[in-house]
Amino acid sequence: MSSGYGKSTWVKSLNGLWKFNWSPRPEQRPLGFYEPNFDPAQWADIPVPSTWEREGFGTPLYVNIKYPFHVDPPHVMGEPDETFTSFKQRNPVGSYIREFEVPEEWKGQRIILHFGGVRSAMFVWINGQKVGYSQGSRLPAEFDITEFVKSGVNRVAVEVFKFSDASYIEDQDFWRLSGIYRDVFLVAMPEEGLWDLYAQPEVDLKSGTGIVKLNATAMPGASINTAKPELKLSLLDDKGNQIASGNEKVEVSNVKLWYPEQPTLYTAMVQVLSNGKVCQVFRLPVGFRRLEVSGEELLLNGKPLKIRGVNRHEFDPHTGYVMTPELMRRDLELMKQANINFVRTAHYPNDPRWYSLCDQLGMLVMDEANVESHGLSYHKRILPGDQADWSTAVVERMQRMVVRDRQHPSIVMWSLGNEAGYGTSFLAMRDVCRATDPENRLIQYADMNLAGDVDSQTYPDINWLKQHLTGKAKRKGERGNVSSEEQHGPYPSGRPFIMNEYAHAMGNSIGNFADYWDLIHAEPMLSGGFIWDWVDQALYRDRSNPALGYFYGGDFGDTPTDTNFCVNGVIGANRVPHPHYYEVQKVYQPVHFNGVKITDGLLLLTNRQLALDLSECRLHYEVHSNGELIRAGTLPSFAVTPGQTKEIDVSAATAFAKRSAAQHQETTLTFKLKRSEDTTWAKAGHVIAWEQVPWPHTDLQNPPLPPGSVNGTQTDEGITAAGKDFSIRISSRTGLPDSIVIDGHEMLVQPMRWNFWRALTDNDEGWKVGDKLGAWRDAGDSAIVKSITLTDNESRPVIDAVVMIPNPKARIRVRHTVAAGAYLKTEATFEVISKRWKPDLPRLGIQFAIPRSFANVAWYGRGPHENYWDRHTSAPIGRYESTVSQWVTPYVRPQENGNRCDVRWLQLQNEQGSGLQINAPPNIPLSVSAWPYSMDDLATAKHNFELPEREFITVNLDHVQMGVGGDNSWGLPVNAPYRIKSDRVYQWSFTLSPIQQ
Ligand code: GAL
Ligand code: MG
Repeated sequence: MSSGYGKSTWVKSLNGLWKFNWSPRPEQRPLGFYEPNFDPAQWADIPVPSTWEREGFGTPLYVNIKYPFHVDPPHVMGEPDETFTSFKQRNPVGSYIREFEVPEEWKGQRIILHFGGVRSAMFVWINGQKVGYSQGSRLPAEFDITEFVKSGVNRVAVEVFKFSDASYIEDQDFWRLSGIYRDVFLVAMPEEGLWDLYAQPEVDLKSGTGIVKLNATAMPGASINTAKPELKLSLLDDKGNQIASGNEKVEVSNVKLWYPEQPTLYTAMVQVLSNGKVCQVFRLPVGFRRLEVSGEELLLNGKPLKIRGVNRHEFDPHTGYVMTPELMRRDLELMKQANINFVRTAHYPNDPRWYSLCDQLGMLVMDEANVESHGLSYHKRILPGDQADWSTAVVERMQRMVVRDRQHPSIVMWSLGNEAGYGTSFLAMRDVCRATDPENRLIQYADMNLAGDVDSQTYPDINWLKQHLTGKAKRKGERGNVSSEEQHGPYPSGRPFIMNEYAHAMGNSIGNFADYWDLIHAEPMLSGGFIWDWVDQALYRDRSNPALGYFYGGDFGDTPTDTNFCVNGVIGANRVPHPHYYEVQKVYQPVHFNGVKITDGLLLLTNRQLALDLSECRLHYEVHSNGELIRAGTLPSFAVTPGQTKEIDVSAATAFAKRSAAQHQETTLTFKLKRSEDTTWAKAGHVIAWEQVPWPHTDLQNPPLPPGSVNGTQTDEGITAAGKDFSIRISSRTGLPDSIVIDGHEMLVQPMRWNFWRALTDNDEGWKVGDKLGAWRDAGDSAIVKSITLTDNESRPVIDAVVMIPNPKARIRVRHTVAAGAYLKTEATFEVISKRWKPDLPRLGIQFAIPRSFANVAWYGRGPHENYWDRHTSAPIGRYESTVSQWVTPYVRPQENGNRCDVRWLQLQNEQGSGLQINAPPNIPLSVSAWPYSMDDLATAKHNFELPEREFITVNLDHVQMGVGGDNSWGLPVNAPYRIKSDRVYQWSFTLSPIQQ
């Protein structure tokens, strides 16, 4: 019933418009509205499914840890802080009414009313009679309404409360929305049929024998005298051919295993016979696969598995919680294309159709129970803790989830919940899970590893992982003398280790991701992890006009709030990938390339897939000479056994590389493994893995400055160098150009200035860069020129300046050489000379502004997408073109963006083709970026839609900018190798010249 239910004649959807009334407080709700004669004509219409806050009733509210109501478990109605949204909207109640008819041909059947998801709690009436109550907002609620319906028109009335005692265990970090947000439908079930049927797969990995066993649950209340229905099982293979048949059990040999990369699905067709007649048919997905723990490793079908995972909330920027099949499919396609193989349903059971898609497209799933009590219990033993009444609630949630979902092959792990502390309740959840899941899938719970089968923890950094590998790490929950044994069991545990959350993708993030994975691939105990998280939870400001941009917490006047802490996606809420999506895709790629033997014409390929041998792909190559494509081709197909490394002859490509390199051209080889055929989640030609291999060079040089003479003159303002049709002035205030006039046009709208700062990213805010490195914020503007001199070198003015930064004390020596044709060569040396106070620098470079018309960008460096020092594995060296407006990344909360590393040259041109060119020596390339606004605009705007379009373009020519980090966004710093240490001397140079048309 979990998929395709829209098509059955035994299912009738009750989605659509319902009558609706919203009351801010329970005292104001309409009593007796469920009476059959109540007239809701004056009420509003509301679509079902929906969340009422997104339909204009009440206030959407985003908060992380804090409960948004007065805390006094199990009560939610106490008076909260006056500023809280719930002060006035104490506990909103949605009253829903709708009419329906029961199809004539359903006579004699059991009629079940099914709600896929309602938050947080509800009462249900049919024709004025109460049929029940339910809570557990991410699981279905089903009511047997057979006795309550009549022929003709019936009425269903539902009263939904925003908060209930259940809210104490639904304190996840997300938008707090309410209503009937999943499908509602009626189902007809034959009296003499079954309530539930589960086809349990088993596989013997050695012999390849698969067994399917049926586990039937009788219709509740079926009379004891009713004969037990008879079952006829036939197993169909992935082509739909029957390969076995039997009654309660069948056995087949040589089964094809289910893998995320090759999700072979069998189907169990089961006829339920009563008195020899078919009364019910089940069609159940069956996959033969097994995830198990073997020592410190995780094995999928007997092979070591690395979890290339992501956490996913169900989120749509229009509606909040309502998932459409299209959106779920889009998510899954984007995940598959990013080489993600495992999803954690953070932090609750998902729309049932999600799992069916995962079964079909191939995605491993960790299914998580809807249990979080962060506001009270994080790493504590409070609620549910050891408390019997709360334990019943969470155990029931676990059991209901397992019963609903156990049929899905994609689910290979259960999670007991998130951030709900520890205690006996979790041991009880584990026990009920084992009892309900005969497949004995693995169990995970980071707050109490003892209750699970693996060790898991949130946000360990690389150093922590290294300590853990030696058994010397401090586990979460260990405080002072409090041991974590009762929480996590003995240590070291000898079990696989999972990062149930890592790589916090908030804003401009996912730095040092490749470093995590170098370690994970090297260490069997590290089983990988789940990125936090998949999609930005930013809501459209105006649902009818997405172009108006996004809102986050607090923007609806909601309190308490954690503002933009909900915007942590690998992709945007509109499903447009963020730049770091491509880094995830690259680092998660299932094939490793090694170019150590490239000059011998050999490439080493390691196939990290578990089932496919790469014969599904062809290897393409491209040879670039100074960024220009000089040769492309496809190599003969080959196979690499899963898990093996093989030498591939790529001499067809390297022959061209050799020739290019011999001409002193910077040469690269780029290899791409492309799928030969369409698949369910990508088109033929999709690149599953790639690598750029640089050809070794020692002989690359920048062209010399052009000949011809230039005059230099010194004034109070500075030193001006002038030649035919140009003049350049080096300011005596900064030691940098403050005027570049070419053909009578001033190129500098704002003078060049030294810049050591950046508009803080979310991660920067988290580790308090504003305080820790704040000394650098205005350091550039406080620069003082100690000396500035003019000399002449072969009729070229040479301007030498010594520039001092007072605080922290630093010295810059800068030399400008001006040559004919308005060529300016600038060479700089930077050194912090203060002895004791040596804070790291966020950035080291030069910033200026040029007229807005020079908005066409071309560069030779890393691209095409935004990249940083610690996040550029996915950005190959190449020649790219863009525009300044495309070059920036529209992060929901504005912050540092748009950087491109390793740039050898950059051009900024107007529509006529005139402009500026910047060149850097290939061994000391630049980091560059350009924005249609100022850095101050970027630092002060709270939303992307607030950023102005200025009349100028800010250009950053940096020697280096520190990485973006992202181990978490609340304290962990950018990793040491990607910080700009101030204990060494930095030297760089570039040449600026006009492009004339
Ligand atoms: C985790 C938590 C997530 C989310 C994340 C921060 O610890 O499980 O729900 O709050 O931190 O974005
Ligand atoms: Mg939490």
